[in-house]
Amino acid sequence: MKKFFLMLLSVCVLPLWVSAQKRTIVPGAEWPDNNGLHINAHGGNIIQADGTFFWYGESRPRGTHKAMPGISLYTSPDLVNWKDCGIVLSTVQQPGSPIEYGCVMERPKVVFCPKTQKYVMLFHLELKGKGYSAAMMGFAQSDSPYGPFKFERALRPNAKYWPVDFKRKDKKLAQKQNPEDYKDWWTPEWRQAIEKGMFLWRDFQGGQMSRDQTVYVDDDGTAYQLTSSEDNLTLHLNELTSDFLGFTGRFIRIAPGGQNEAPTLMKNGDTYWMITSGCTGWAPNEARMFSAKSLWGPWTQHPSPCIGPDAKKTFGAQGTYILKHGGRFIFMADRWMPKTLSESRHVWLPIEFGPDGTPQIIWRDKWDIE
Ligand code: DGJ
Repeated sequence: MKKFFLMLLSVCVLPLWVSAQKRTIVPGAEWPDNNGLHINAHGGNIIQADGTFFWYGESRPRGTHKAMPGISLYTSPDLVNWKDCGIVLSTVQQPGSPIEYGCVMERPKVVFCPKTQKYVMLFHLELKGKGYSAAMMGFAQSDSPYGPFKFERALRPNAKYWPVDFKRKDKKLAQKQNPEDYKDWWTPEWRQAIEKGMFLWRDFQGGQMSRDQTVYVDDDGTAYQLTSSEDNLTLHLNELTSDFLGFTGRFIRIAPGGQNEAPTLMKNGDTYWMITSGCTGWAPNEARMFSAKSLWGPWTQHPSPCIGPDAKKTFGAQGTYILKHGGRFIFMADRWMPKTLSESRHVWLPIEFGPDGTPQIIWRDKWDIE
């Protein structure tokens, strides 16, 4: 009898269960989690630990929340079926705390730090009631990828440091640029002043602005933060300390005045590739791409890697992370829905490489993760 029931289970129930498991990625569709709710993890990243994928992201207000509850975690055995594991870094009710309820936490990235054996989270932090003016970096850490993450500090990177490639004459030139002399933005003179480091010098004492960001751990274990700085005009690549909880002060500027946001990074063979967006708020724009043989540059710009319908608008989305999975790369992006940010759609597409090794992101209505 027992044998009969086991047979019935394997013949009838098991195949039903297997087919109930999703296997394909449908970019831009609603992605229900184990509770049937759309995955509320935006601008984030994915890491793998002990055979499980951990997806961290912005948990945008849903239901009773008016502001962000914090950073969410979803876990999965296969990158397709996701379980809601709740909030792993919460905003707090304590008045005056940098992460007081009402603050904005964006683009969280979690990395494992071998030196401290901790999971470290870096995120863009805007203070309660201050719009997007604080432009700070938040740091939090946890003993476990499941969290909870303990908030450590918030700061602006690289106060009182010059970019490593700045020579004496560059420093002198930057110090001569005064924002008071350029009331009108976007004129050719203003652009030149920006390139020469007008905002770099403006923020020299208090630390450089840091908004959209990603974190990248290089082959030698050194971690870097790549961020939109100088009022989103110029990217900064900032070296992190060995505990990943601060900045060493070594940094470079990339594409000064180029207005790059949403930075993502990967290395294929001996080439680093950076895919970014332009700056148009929540509205999509055309992706940009850069390559270099060293993270410290020089970086060369290439055309957008996107191919297919709406490629000129990055398929209606904005990049958030490049996930390396089994020797391949997945471009993760958000199709923002500004009125209901929690419902913003996830657009994931495989990155392929053309005959000359140039990355291509080709639109697919659906694709199999394997
Ligand atoms: C675009 C950024 O990429 C997003 O992360 C967010 O900061 C919005 N701008 C806010 O307008």
